[in-house]
Parts: sequence; structure tokens; C-alpha cells
Amino acid sequence: MRYLYYEDKYFDGLLKLWNDEAQIRGFYKPFTPEGFRAHLINHPDFAESASFVALDGDEVVGFICGIVKKADITDLSKPGYLTAILVKSTHRRKGIGAKLLEMCEIDLKRKGRKAIRVVFLSNMNWPWYIPDTDKHDHPGAPAVPVNSPEYFLLLHHKFDVQGFCDAFHLPLDQYETPQDVFDKMKVNQEKGFKIELYDPAVHYGLEEFYVNIQNEAFERAIRYNLSLEKPNPFLVVSQKGKVVGWTGAMYTEPSGRAHFDGIVTDPTVRGVGLGKALFCTLCQYSKEHGSKFMTFFTGLDNLARNIYLYAGFKIVQTFAIMKKELK
Ligand SMILES: CC(C)(COP(=O)(O)OP(=O)(O)OC[C@H]1O[C@@H](n2cnc3c(N)ncnc32)[C@H](O)[C@@H]1OP(=O)(O)O)[C@@H](O)C(=O)NCCC(=O)NCCS
Repeated sequence: MRYLYYEDKYFDGLLKLWNDEAQIRGFYKPFTPEGFRAHLINHPDFAESASFVALDGDEVVGFICGIVKKADITDLSKPGYLTAILVKSTHRRKGIGAKLLEMCEIDLKRKGRKAIRVVFLSNMNWPWYIPDTDKHDHPGAPAVPVNSPEYFLLLHHKFDVQGFCDAFHLPLDQYETPQDVFDKMKVNQEKGFKIELYDPAVHYGLEEFYVNIQNEAFERAIRYNLSLEKPNPFLVVSQKGKVVGWTGAMYTEPSGRAHFDGIVTDPTVRGVGLGKALFCTLCQYSKEHGSKFMTFFTGLDNLARNIYLYAGFKIVQTFAIMKKELK
């Protein structure tokens, strides 16, 4: 067995390994050559990667991808990220994964990293299929699937679990808005609240909303959508026109997935049923506009999980956020 830095001459062998194993496992999505190049090799952070292949003869039978985010290169307090580790099924339990991990860790240490993390913050997250569905997908696994071979490999090599997040799924033909949501919304309407499509001629106060929600990712998502020549429709909760709640750009992805950026309500109006009503309106809109299913993930301590379970979503996979100090 030879262990070498990844080079482009291994691209075809690596893609074959990825797609063969994706088919056997039925979890991660296979790629076209163009798609794989775009996702991995042309990823802006791949340039600083600590990526290695394991070769049996000339065959690529193992791969690991560690990265340092471009934005973190000069900040040595920032960790490196492990974004993929894969060994061919027929070559498992022979120490190949452990050797690849060791090489990746040594290389990340050489790049000045004091820790290695596996978490969606790496920005290189792999698309996957919801088990037992007709190719219902999610665009990016947020961390390590619990009970997967890679989960146990990392546990056995001194990675700690820092937290869990759950993936939620619902086929939208099963979605119905509960009567209680309509009843509560009637009461909220009397207080001047409305849930409707954002219309810049009617709604105001987004700048104040950004300050109040204190969430850069949501702010970026709203600004990005509004910067498009033709922004995607999105829902807002408003009180006499002032925006106090938002849910992300609404469109159907090619797989049939309803795109989902998140939901947020202004802290001053939380706890009165607006978050639930907003999310339920999003589900109804997505169902009526041709989306087949919704998938997303959220942390164990996020209150929004109650909303998702209430709307009928099922938890279909748990992911572990993992970290190892590099000593
Ligand atoms: C999650 C969020 C949108 C909920 O908004 P909200 O307007 O407070 O929602 P609702 O009043 O409709 O409450 C919905 C449910 O959440 C749960 N919940 C809300 N606040 C809660 C609290 N303080 N304690 C416990 N549960 C709470 C409850 O189950 C509640 O339903 P119930 O009151 O019928 O039992 C809001 O807290 C928020 O914007 N958080 C920050 C952004 C975020 O985390 N978004 C989700 C990830 S995409």
C-alpha cells in the first residue's frame, strides 16, 4: 500500500472510488466528473488541503481530505477541518483509514493547526440521500453520520463528540397545516401581524431586523437573495408593515427539494406562535408550488426543532460534530 499526497492524476481513480462506495452504501450522492471537480477540487479551500490517497498498485482505495479554510490561513487559532475520509469496502479493517488520518493530522499540524474538526462550518459538505426514499436529498451532510464506519474510526482515534445535529425530512404530500395554527394566527392578526410574501412596496425595517436577530448567516441570505436581478419570493411576518420575521428564499431545487434557508423571528415577538405559523406557511407554499419534499438539519438545543416535529417532520439521521486536539 502506498500513501501519497493527492494529485490530479488520481482524479479518475478517486471519482470511481467515491461513486462505487456511494452506490454500495446508498447514502452519499454519486457525482459526475464535472460535479466532483466543482465540489472538491475547485472548492476555494481545497488549495490548502491536507489530502492523501491510498494506492493498492495503481488503484485508489482510500482518500482523506483535510482543509484549512482560506480565510483562516493566517489565524493559527482556527482549526483545520476533516471533510472526507473513505476506504474501499474490500480494503477495510486493515489500518488504511487510520494511516490516512495520521497523515492528514501530521500535515494539518505542519500547517499550524492545533485542532481538527468535522462540522458543517468547513463549507465543504457532501450531498446525501435520505435513506428509504426515492432520492430525496439534502445538499450537505453537516458532520459525521452517527453509527457510520467513519464515526467509529474517529471515536477510536481520540476525536470527541462536541454536539449532535438532527436531519429532518417530510414528503410534502403528507403536509397539512394544523387547525391550531390558523386559530392562533387569527388572534395574532388582531394584533396587526401578517404572514405574506415580502413586497418592498409594503414592508419596511429590514436593517433594524438584521440588528435585532443578530444572525450573520440569515442576514447574508436575505441580502444575497435581494441582490439578485430577480429575487426569489420569501415570506415575512410583519406588524403593520414592519418586518419581524423571515423565512428564506423559496424555490424548488432540481431534485424536488424545497430550498430552505431557515426561519427567524424578531426576539421581541417570540413565543406567541408566529414562528410556527411562519414555518407552516412555508410548508404550505412549497407544497402548492411543486416542491416534493423538505430536508434540513438543526442542533439538539434549537427550539425550532419543536416547530419542525409539530409540522410532521421526522428525524431521519443524526450527525455528530467532532473535534480532536492536535498535540
Ligand atoms: C425558532 C424561532 C423561529 C421560534 O420563533 P417563535 O416566534 O418564538 O415561535 P413560536 O412562538 O411559534 O413557538 C414555536 C414553538 O417553539 C417552542 N418554543 C418557542 N419558544 C420556546 C421557549 N422559550 N422555551 C421552550 N420552547 C419554546 C415551543 O414548542 C413553541 O410551540 P408551543 O408554544 O406551541 O409549544 C425563534 O426562536 C428564532 O428566531 N430563533 C433564532 C433563529 C433560529 O434558531 N431558527 C431556527 C433554525 S433555522
